[in-house]
Amino acid sequence: MLELKNISKRYENRFLADKLSISVSRGEIVALLGASGAGKSTLLKIVAGLEPADDGQVFFDQQDITQLPPEKRHFALMFQDFALFPHLNVVDNVAFGLIEQKLPKKVAREQAVAMLARFNLATHATDKVTTLSGGEQQRVALARALITQPKVLLLDEPFSALDADLRQSLREEFKQHITNMGISTILVTHDELEARAMANRCVRLSAGQLSVVW
Ligand SMILES: Nc1ncnc2c1ncn2[C@@H]1O[C@H](COP(=O)(O)OP(=O)(O)O)[C@@H](O)[C@H]1O
Ligand SMILES: [Mg+2]
Repeated sequence: MLELKNISKRYENRFLADKLSISVSRGEIVALLGASGAGKSTLLKIVAGLEPADDGQVFFDQQDITQLPPEKRHFALMFQDFALFPHLNVVDNVAFGLIEQKLPKKVAREQAVAMLARFNLATHATDKVTTLSGGEQQRVALARALITQPKVLLLDEPFSALDADLRQSLREEFKQHITNMGISTILVTHDELEARAMANRCVRLSAGQLSVVW
């Protein structure tokens, strides 16, 4: 279980988080709504360890990880522009996290191919990522995020660059993968329908406070 306890974060005189607390259970998806500039992305970065909080703690499975560097948290982040590596083909994009963890390339590629099969992308394994459609690239990005079996997944408006039809079909697919793998997930979105379709719970960030939407 992921737990944020009394997290505070301020830029100049504005509190993006003001003693904010929330927990996300294993396999649970919590949607995070909030106006642009409310601090949603900053909050995800605090969870990932990419940005320090001014105050408060982050716990995972009862362990205080507030001071742990991002690479030791085994959390995965996925942003709206999903930045795949354009010089690598599909399978090497997906295998990247495993190769970084020093797995032999052959083993990493085998695991990447298996992951691509789960996403119905196996036939694209050797394609250049730049030749894929937006939706396919988004699925490759999720496969890449999930291959290291992260304990926490942080999705920052993952579908906002896609058209409405595609968004809708990817929601269900993403939700299934996340739930099956038992990953605690925070989904930042400005789309309440997306929140409804994917999340178990929904909260809103405003003036540094979280309120329950449903
Ligand atoms: N490193 C930083 N230094 C100063 N201000 C920042 C920094 N990062 C973000 N901010 C400010 O914090 C606010 C919240 O940003 P952000 O977390 O990106 O909001 P959201 O994702 O909800 O749109 C913005 O007003 C932004 O300008
Ligand atoms: Mg943002």
